[in-house]
Amino acid sequence: MYRLPEALLAIGLAGVALSAVAEQTRYDIGRTASSEEIAGWDIDVRPDGKGLPPGQGSVMDGERLYEARCASCHGSFGEGVGRWPVLSGGFDTLTYERPTKTVGSYWPYASTLWDYVHRAMPFTAPRSLSVDETYAVSAYVLYLNDIVDDDFVLTQDNLADIEMPNRDGFFEDNRPDSPNTRCMQGCADPDELQMVGTIGGITPVGHFKQGADAPAASHEGQKALEEAKERERLKELGVEVEEQEERADDTLSEAALAGREVYQSACIACHGSGLAGAPKVGDREAWAPRLEKGMETLERHALEGFTGSKGVMPPKGGRVDLPDEQILHAVAFMTEKSQ
Ligand code: HEC
Ligand code: HEC
Repeated sequence: MYRLPEALLAIGLAGVALSAVAEQTRYDIGRTASSEEIAGWDIDVRPDGKGLPPGQGSVMDGERLYEARCASCHGSFGEGVGRWPVLSGGFDTLTYERPTKTVGSYWPYASTLWDYVHRAMPFTAPRSLSVDETYAVSAYVLYLNDIVDDDFVLTQDNLADIEMPNRDGFFEDNRPDSPNTRCMQGCADPDELQMVGTIGGITPVGHFKQGADAPAASHEGQKALEEAKERERLKELGVEVEEQEERADDTLSEAALAGREVYQSACIACHGSGLAGAPKVGDREAWAPRLEKGMETLERHALEGFTGSKGVMPPKGGRVDLPDEQILHAVAFMTEKSQ
């Protein structure tokens, strides 16, 4: 957070010094920023405490301020009201599919807390807290995260010594820079490069590993879950919800029944939830136009792979190790379940 503004400032200042004379004659606009003006921008605080103004604030004072200025959004215990951000807890969730990233569970340095609150909070009146008030609410947010005790007083001298739980959770990105030159002739065909929309966002395709069961993205099942929750919510409100009845097993063909297991091991990752644009099994609307293409086409697409307007169906769903017959059984299962 502090590197960029400071680097820009350094470049800016060097530029001013070198070209102060030239500037006037060249553009004849503006003037050198005064040190007071620079001080107004130069408010970043570093992990080692550099940039902190003298001052202090206690957890006790912070509690009162926090209740008055912060709790309406962030909750009395930092638990977050409605969809406002959660500020406390979430410890041990960083390895979860949906981690709860809070000041306590995620942020590596206390300086970020002070800096952020100072420059951006409260949301509706940023920079309205005094320096001491900022120390006090910061102390209180640390207290809500069990990082300091209730008699703690935060000052410019002890802030950098605070050990945040996730201080060792960040690593320098040491991948080398790799320069690239612009291709001017004989370049890749842009038609072969594709971006597909998935529930996780926009994903470049072509990264499915041959033989892998599932694609790299893994919010698997999230969409189905959200939809089920939405149906529950509507039902509670008394709204009529059309339930899609799943086709009963005793109406399925033998081939389809034989395909269930293959489907569950090789296809469900995408077709169970609609991941990566795959038509969801049981979703008649999504399957109707596909069924119109005829079974032969669908079977060929399942075996050889298929790129349509929704995304990429890898050959055999990525399971090229499976015999053709099993894939065809899976197609029978999926299509019959979706009619
Ligand atoms: C009107 C609602 C509101 C109030 C009041 C408010 N905040 Fe916030 N706070 C927010 C929103 C919204 C964000 C996220 C802003 C963003 O991401 O750009 C946020 C973000 C934060 C964060 C960063 C959370 C994170 O993990 O990214 C901290 C820390 C914070 N607020 C502290 C405070 C403190 C301390 C106060 C009281 C002085 C306060 N806030 C008052 C709405 C509020
Ligand atoms: C990595 C995700 C993924 C896996 C795994 C996967 N599919 Fe697909 N499949 C797709 C996508 C995406 C489409 C839709 C492509 C389009 O129409 O844009 C699709 C489409 C299909 C279609 C319809 C083709 C058409 O012409 O409309 C069939 C049939 C199919 N898959 C069968 C299977 C079978 C059988 C398996 C398991 C052996 C499987 N898929 C595994 C992603 C996957």
